[in-house]
Amino acid sequence: MRLTIKNIGILAGIDESGRERVMGAEMKNLGTLTNAYLIAEEGKITSYGPMAELPEGRSDEEIDARGGVVMPAFCDSHTHIVYAGSREGEFVDKINGLSYEEIARRGGGILNSADRLHEATEQELYEEAMPRLQQMMASGTGAAEIKSGYGLSTEDELKMLRVIRRMAESSPMTIRATFLGAHAVARNYIGRQSEYVDLICREMIPAVAAEGLADFVDVFCDRGFFTPEETARMLECGAKYGMRPKIHANELAASGGIQVGVQYGALSVDHLEFTGDEEIAVLLGSKTMPTILPGAAFFLGMNYPPARKMIDAGLGVAIASDFNPGSSPSGNMKFILSLACIKLRMNPQEAIHAATQNSAYAMGLQRTHGSITKGKVANLWITEPVSSLEFIPYAYGTSLTAGLVLNGKRVL
Ligand code: NIG
Ligand code: FE
Repeated sequence: MRLTIKNIGILAGIDESGRERVMGAEMKNLGTLTNAYLIAEEGKITSYGPMAELPEGRSDEEIDARGGVVMPAFCDSHTHIVYAGSREGEFVDKINGLSYEEIARRGGGILNSADRLHEATEQELYEEAMPRLQQMMASGTGAAEIKSGYGLSTEDELKMLRVIRRMAESSPMTIRATFLGAHAVARNYIGRQSEYVDLICREMIPAVAAEGLADFVDVFCDRGFFTPEETARMLECGAKYGMRPKIHANELAASGGIQVGVQYGALSVDHLEFTGDEEIAVLLGSKTMPTILPGAAFFLGMNYPPARKMIDAGLGVAIASDFNPGSSPSGNMKFILSLACIKLRMNPQEAIHAATQNSAYAMGLQRTHGSITKGKVANLWITEPVSSLEFIPYAYGTSLTAGLVLNGKRVL
């Protein structure tokens, strides 16, 4: 199977350097080629170059990009898209003045979603979640991480992870699964938090590992949720079963989550609204990717993480949607790109690196996804004809999707 894309206005995200992530000042240098072609064979990128050098030869499929941008499909390294129902009631509560934490303390929030997920069958959850993947694809996403964490019992966590496995098997998107039993303390364990942590270590992690259902382990390490000590225990447990951490940290307070994540070799630490000099120092020199979720700060009206400071200090950062029913009910990575520019003061080239190569790194896909590199999977987002690369985040509410190629095949 050979696919040719011709008349590409700007081919963006080219990187043949072999680097696994893009750090600091390098983030603003995005490899581009104007008036280009790209060829993919058997699902992989095999060549690209100026249109004038387009090789002869027959293709099974040809796409005319009509002057649009072709870039790596977005990698969304942090989502919670398996959930039952929605929580617009809490959205109104927030408009009327309640905070995310107050809603959680009243038994809403994550526990509200857990109650509903408990009632739903695997089939119902699958049917509800698949259209969310479709919405993500419509904004240019080609790979995603999906977390459990609305089960909060062994049985319901397994149910969620089986749904994620089925989604991975039936979608053209590349999917990674994360076990997030420590998203909140289950209702029947309230007041007995340490026993809930025991349950996760003794029963949930071994059961998840026995079915091979998760690539990563996550903990919501934050004020009012799990402490750094509890987080360390669960990460140690996960490590015994080969699950690398990707953790929720410093969304609600300077929780020590970044430090514990780095200490346990987390692939990423995510959220980071409360990040200071000490946390930046800890991240520098580590292999952990700081991942910012600007959709959550936008939706909850919180302060944004200091992305500019992080990049200027030499860190690479990733951005992801956090698509979930409580704090970010959208998986539109193109909008996330705009938020990164507008609210995090990242320039468009930095934001594109954060949403592609660095977000691929944050889910362990850096060798196969996230850049225009010969030999990488041909996951490509094709935009409508645009005047420049900068136009993409600038046109913040406009779709611009003209096509999506996943595994070398056109899916949109
Ligand atoms: O990443 N912060 C913790 N978890 C999710 C929100 C989950 C929910 O409210 O349902 C997040 O924002
Ligand atoms: Fe999250």
